[in-house]
Amino acid sequence: MDMMKTLADPAFRNDILACFEEPRHAIPARWLYDRAGSELFEQITELPEYYPTRTETALLKRYCGEVAQLGERGRAVVEFGSGSSTKTPHLLRALDTAAYVPIDISGDFLAHSSRELQKQFPDLPIHPLEADFMHRLDLPEQVADMPKLGFFPGSTIGNMIARTSVDLLRSMRETLGVGSQLLIGFDRIKDEEIVVAAYDDSAGVTAQFSLNLLHRINSEMDGTIPVEAFRHIAIWNDLYARIEIYLEAQSDVSFTIEDKSNAMTKGQRLHIENSHKYGLRDARLMLRAGGWSPIAEWSDEQDYFTLILAEAHPSKHAP
Ligand code: TRP
Repeated sequence: MDMMKTLADPAFRNDILACFEEPRHAIPARWLYDRAGSELFEQITELPEYYPTRTETALLKRYCGEVAQLGERGRAVVEFGSGSSTKTPHLLRALDTAAYVPIDISGDFLAHSSRELQKQFPDLPIHPLEADFMHRLDLPEQVADMPKLGFFPGSTIGNMIARTSVDLLRSMRETLGVGSQLLIGFDRIKDEEIVVAAYDDSAGVTAQFSLNLLHRINSEMDGTIPVEAFRHIAIWNDLYARIEIYLEAQSDVSFTIEDKSNAMTKGQRLHIENSHKYGLRDARLMLRAGGWSPIAEWSDEQDYFTLILAEAHPSKHAP
């Protein structure tokens, strides 16, 4: 065996093998973010068509002072899906942050980003957590007694179907605790052409990002998927207010994954991602369903993106 090969995560193997057992082939989006995928995603965030990152970053820069005033001083900032942590410095600086806990599924990417951030903030205690944030997590004991601000930018919430987002918001409430706050980004509903272009850029970086998943399967699971035979597509589903991302076979293909034979016919698709877009009321209701009461919100002039600050109030009975 090639000693340099990454050992496949058992959960990744299960999801990939299960995908081809089902008539509708779907792969959970978290597997897009191996090291190569995380790096390609960073390139996506700088594309001219990809408006979410720059819009949200501008909102953060402009309003982080207000976020600071609406909460306690000396908080621990807990970021869910921290990636390169490029948006975080604005927040960390404005907040008089006591500690930073970046959580990400890509372990080596997380370690690298944490080291880079530590250079910018030499005195800030940073406690990286390599984890899938979809479950309730035990935070590092160093932050146990600090007030907490969850940070969930990038409209990553939109990459889950509604019931999963509500589950996640509830588990975040458990992870962070009653009295905590959450600053969360929501990508808004807007003209279809603008949204589609953001997920199918002219330079083809998003296509590369999607197709990297097939390379990952090939390299981690001894696959023979002919990657060139697949095409990245992004489609707007108006009923669900979401972009759907697929990899579509351009011809009949057959391949093996861990010695198991698979075949796909021309036009058959792998569903690899959804990115839901929200009206303001959708976003607020989703937060409340997950146990978070909105207390402030900020949007850009075009209403392309909204940051909402919410608080985990103690549960009350109806009404
Ligand atoms: N959270 C990002 C979003 O929904 C993720 C993303 C951006 C993405 N571009 C993508 C996921 C392309 C899959 C394919 O905007």
